[in-house]
Amino acid sequence: EDNRRESLMVVSAFAAKFFQESLLETAEGQNIGLSYFKERGFREDIIRKFELGYSPDNWDAFSTAAIKQNYQQEFLLESGLSVKRDNGTLYDRYRGRVMFPIHSFTGRVVGFGGRTLKNDKSVPKYVNSPESEIYHKSSILYGLYFAKKAIRETDNCYLVEGYADVISVYQAGIENVVASSGTSLTVEQIRLIGRSTKNITILYDGDAAGIKAALRGLDLILEEGLNVKVVTFPDGHDPDSFVRKVGTAAFKTYIDQHQKDFILYKTSTLLKDAGNDPIKKAEVIREIVESIAKIPDSIKASVFVKECSLLLQMDERSLLTELNKMRLAKS
Ligand code: CTP
Ligand code: MN
Ligand code: MN
Ligand code: MN
Ligand code: MN
Repeated sequence: EDNRRESLMVVSAFAAKFFQESLLETAEGQNIGLSYFKERGFREDIIRKFELGYSPDNWDAFSTAAIKQNYQQEFLLESGLSVKRDNGTLYDRYRGRVMFPIHSFTGRVVGFGGRTLKNDKSVPKYVNSPESEIYHKSSILYGLYFAKKAIRETDNCYLVEGYADVISVYQAGIENVVASSGTSLTVEQIRLIGRSTKNITILYDGDAAGIKAALRGLDLILEEGLNVKVVTFPDGHDPDSFVRKVGTAAFKTYIDQHQKDFILYKTSTLLKDAGNDPIKKAEVIREIVESIAKIPDSIKASVFVKECSLLLQMDERSLLTELNKMRLAKS
């Protein structure tokens, strides 16, 4: 109910402020958290804008401060900021991590992602807020609050995987950027973008997981009636590591020159594995037609059929026949 949601948002705002002060105004935060962000090339104005923070490496620094300020245990627990011990006392969920607050569409903090600073495979790289009345992972896009104006102005939305990708791409001056935050893209997230633009450009990681997620996301975007392009990055780079490597100007040029529509993207990605094998090539064509069949607008679909036939040197009519079969099977 509304009162509970408001209480959760108030405690989340308090936490964001606590983590931010701990980053900027304590010796531990400056030495560990701030220097980490600076090493990653995050500028201070961007750190402040996104309200990045640091959670002290201490069992209960946050929980103790929150209780002292009379925040109720119930909301500390539901927001996931605190966890209850068997003896009833609270300890902090985020300890010794750099903190990425997650904002709602209207700019209120509704959750957090906390990144470890350890290079240790046995600790999870990110700890995220649990589901709560204010935090529904499947319908949140990290960065949307900061990106929404630029999304409307440019009539395009760049979609990345992670928190750091949003920060780095935004800092490079490309402000129409949001992250699906690791979870595979959902229909709710696409509809959220769709309120501001019908054009999405996927900038996922260049690793196997990123490519798989891009192929899946692309079909979902087409099904929602939006237009999709994909940019791939070389050698396992993600947008953050790539922009740091090549610099802002080269990054922008790269994106402009390497964005592919979904047919080109699927063709180049899938044909790589198919080689000259005609059966495999037929499978690739089928997969592409399957994607086209998801497009609700049949005029748009027929334009892509034409492109597909040119690109793969396939007879347009047989592609159309296949397309219609798939559409019938769906309805
Ligand atoms: N993620 C997560 N939990 C993990 C790993 C990833 O929630 N254990 C989410 C985070 O939102 C993360 C995104 O998935 O930002 C992408 O994951 P990954 O590419 O592994 O991390 P990066 O964002 O590249 O993180 P960094 O650059 O800080 O290593
Ligand atoms: Mn709800
Ligand atoms: Mn990855
Ligand atoms: Mn990544
Ligand atoms: Mn990264």
